[in-house]
Amino acid sequence: MNRSIGIHDIEIGTTHHVVDLADLAVARGVDPDKFRIGLGQDQMSFPAPDEDIVTMGAAAARALLARTGADGVRTLLFATESGIDQSKSAAVFAHGLLGLGADVRAVELKQACYAGTAALQMALGIVARNPAEHVLIIAADVARYALDSAGEPTQGAASVAMLVSADPALLEIDPVSGVFTADVDDFWRPNDSSTALVDGKLSMSAYIDALLGAWDDLQARGGVTAADIAAFAYHQPFTKMAAKAQRRLAAHLGAELADDDLVAMSTYNRRLGNSYTASLYVALAALIDARADLDGRRVGLFSYGSGSVGELLTARVLPQGGREDRSARVSRMLDARAPLPIAEYERLHALSYPSGTDTETPRTTTGPFRFAGIRGGARQYEHIG
Ligand code: HMG
Repeated sequence: MNRSIGIHDIEIGTTHHVVDLADLAVARGVDPDKFRIGLGQDQMSFPAPDEDIVTMGAAAARALLARTGADGVRTLLFATESGIDQSKSAAVFAHGLLGLGADVRAVELKQACYAGTAALQMALGIVARNPAEHVLIIAADVARYALDSAGEPTQGAASVAMLVSADPALLEIDPVSGVFTADVDDFWRPNDSSTALVDGKLSMSAYIDALLGAWDDLQARGGVTAADIAAFAYHQPFTKMAAKAQRRLAAHLGAELADDDLVAMSTYNRRLGNSYTASLYVALAALIDARADLDGRRVGLFSYGSGSVGELLTARVLPQGGREDRSARVSRMLDARAPLPIAEYERLHALSYPSGTDTETPRTTTGPFRFAGIRGGARQYEHIG
């Protein structure tokens, strides 16, 4: 008999700081409504000097494992676009901080924002082969564009930790998905650049092409039809993109798709900004946290990573408790961020820690782990609580 496999639990993390996009609009001489309404964004999380994808990702994973325990976890997959080393994976740093056993394998995955979904597919395969195993996925990113560029208000930072298992409590993933891959230069980040290069308009059309292509592939492979999907969650580089996507998908299907899921799914992303690999799963958490009526029903999940790969998964939301707890936790975490004045944000945006110089970072984060600096060319991390 086929066991049900999917996401057993999910947790969100973010940074110490937040930038208010109304302040950024004033500093850039732009109408604040362009960011608030035109892009659908209110704020963007921004890392302190002693935070990065590892500290954010490990913090979310620690909170998740405090509920689930680590028994059965044999694999840690770390998905990110903003990797901190060309060779050693962020997964191995997180493995150390989390105190996982030497018998837990650890690896990093990359394909822009899509890598979180690649990790999920890999996890589903591992659990299908041995249903006694659990897979811990961390998806974490700091989205960074040049100051005063069109992409600047679509920066952000967040992490998601997910436990994938047989007989999950949260979400049962359907076996058939739709995939669309195309070689496009819409967004990329060269090895010598800390900010992404992007052709904004091309990226939006490449996203839509991938959505419709993945949908057609899902149908061609006998996947779930539109009539069976109660709501969608999308990768959200900015939340207005999801509204555009839903409109284009509805036109493609020749069907009405209700807009109430768009508001629900955007609540966390509006305040975090783009979190690349984590973005879709932040949207998924927001959707199921807000909509108890989805229990027992199917959702569609669209993952997009520039370059480009898109995938449309479908999943059944399992009747669950605890949604109010997560929603309250996320609200508290977002409210607790320290506001960054624009001049200080610009100073931190320019900050870098080259590997050739030993440095210590200033103590700022209030999270459980910190990036302490560089010693002998290697990144150093610490537990602080
Ligand atoms: P822009 O130059 O700000 O675009 O760049 P715009 O001038 O077209 O304005 C944006 C919207 O604001 C428009 O709405 C305007 O009408 C509206 P639309 O016509 O699109 O519905 N607007 C206003 N609304 C209310 N009041 C006003 C006002 N003024 C204007 N006063 C762009 C926008 C998204 C291109 C830019 O921010 C960018 O380059 N962002 C980065 C790239 C990106 O996010 N691409 C999305 C798809 S690719 C993707 O999702 C992958 C990614 O996450 C990376 C990965 O895979 O790792 C990025």
